[in-house]
Amino acid sequence: MNVLVLGSGGREHAIAWKIKQSSNCSNLFCMPGNPGTAQIATNIAGSVKDFDAIKECVLGNKIDIVVVGPEDPLVFGLKDMFAADADLKDVLFVGPGKKGAQLEGSKDFAKEFMTRHNIPTAAYRSFTKDTLAEADAFLEQLEAPYVLKADGLAAGKGVLILESLQEAKDELRNMMGGKFGAAGNTVVIEQFLKGIEVSVFVLTSGKDYLILPEAKDYKRIGEGDKGLNTGGMGAVSPVVFADAEFMAKVEERIIKPTVEGFKKDDIDYKGFIFIGLMNCGGDPYVIEYNVRMGDPETEAVMTRIDSDLLSHLVAAAKGDLSGEQIKISEDGALTVVCVSGGYPEDYKKGMVMTGSESLSHNGADSKVKVFHSGTAMKDGNLVTSGGRVLAVTVNGKGIEAQRELIYSEIEKIQYEGKYCRRDIGLDLLNYKG
Ligand code: AMP
Ligand code: GLY
Repeated sequence: MNVLVLGSGGREHAIAWKIKQSSNCSNLFCMPGNPGTAQIATNIAGSVKDFDAIKECVLGNKIDIVVVGPEDPLVFGLKDMFAADADLKDVLFVGPGKKGAQLEGSKDFAKEFMTRHNIPTAAYRSFTKDTLAEADAFLEQLEAPYVLKADGLAAGKGVLILESLQEAKDELRNMMGGKFGAAGNTVVIEQFLKGIEVSVFVLTSGKDYLILPEAKDYKRIGEGDKGLNTGGMGAVSPVVFADAEFMAKVEERIIKPTVEGFKKDDIDYKGFIFIGLMNCGGDPYVIEYNVRMGDPETEAVMTRIDSDLLSHLVAAAKGDLSGEQIKISEDGALTVVCVSGGYPEDYKKGMVMTGSESLSHNGADSKVKVFHSGTAMKDGNLVTSGGRVLAVTVNGKGIEAQRELIYSEIEKIQYEGKYCRRDIGLDLLNYKG
């Protein structure tokens, strides 16, 4: 089969790396891809938002299946465009249509979906400028800290957690006043959930589903979860507290009603669902849905799938996963993201990088893998081109051993301003429940 992966991050490199292992993968393309995907696939220049360029790429390369990495093209209706185009409608497609993508594209839609289908989540209400007085009254009923969420896509920055009632009221006004653009026209205010987070990944055909390995993400820039939020600084899979008992609750209370909800609401959903969960004293609550895989969780999760991902993707896109069985490695995965100094605020680009090649060959059985995120080729050199530069993953047994290996390997990577968190996995190593 000819496969096209859309996107350019570490997530897409990891997905492409896994697909490449399938004996059914004849030609692998990434659009736009990155220098990492260039080693295993053909990169095609173009933006994931340029639907015409995507169509040209699919027809020109006789693509059989498209796998969408980021949410933007889905929220903007790429799947709907394929369905409505006589030349594209028979191309297999992994990712929901515009309606399903609202689960990520609108927090209000996601909360209504969960309420309608009795899926556990934080109590909430949604407000606009016209209902500001009611919003203040609702905040007054809640206890600190206060959680405010811009309804629309805000590049992962639209959630504010505030300690004082006054700050919450001020920020509510800022959000409605355009702090996050139109995304904040509607604001969801919700109850603060206390607990520990885990990311659960599901591949669904809209009828049935496979549960992928779960992962824990480290979102803050600083060690000990301090400092600004980032796209993600590391990941660990499996997650010690997401044991069989907890995951059974997740499946019964969340995954099943979510997929049933698609059927009841007539949402044609064939693709990944990333469920951000809070474990509150052993019970799972949904914090958010995403209609894609997580980054950097994917760089850990993909390395633990021992079965044929392409076969699973084809089955999901065809609408029937009943013949598929996912095989998950008992070995764990630990991923550390190397970033550019200054990230997530201003940082330099174009720093020449050395050493990353010596870490691994990205072979299926290599213990250390390097997934590219923000890298580019310039004058024959590998250079940094983004905040998150590389995601390094090691596989093995025991977080302690994985941590030792990964941090010694990361020493081999050199570029000006290199930074990574040194505490990835440490909290799980000492986790007492
Ligand atoms: P989101 O963009 O929805 O993932 O939210 C960003 C982060 O804010 C989450 O990963 C959580 O750490 C935190 N968060 C969101 N909603 C809540 C909530 N209701 N209670 C506690 N923390 C939350
Ligand atoms: N790592 C979190 C995300 O991809 O949204």
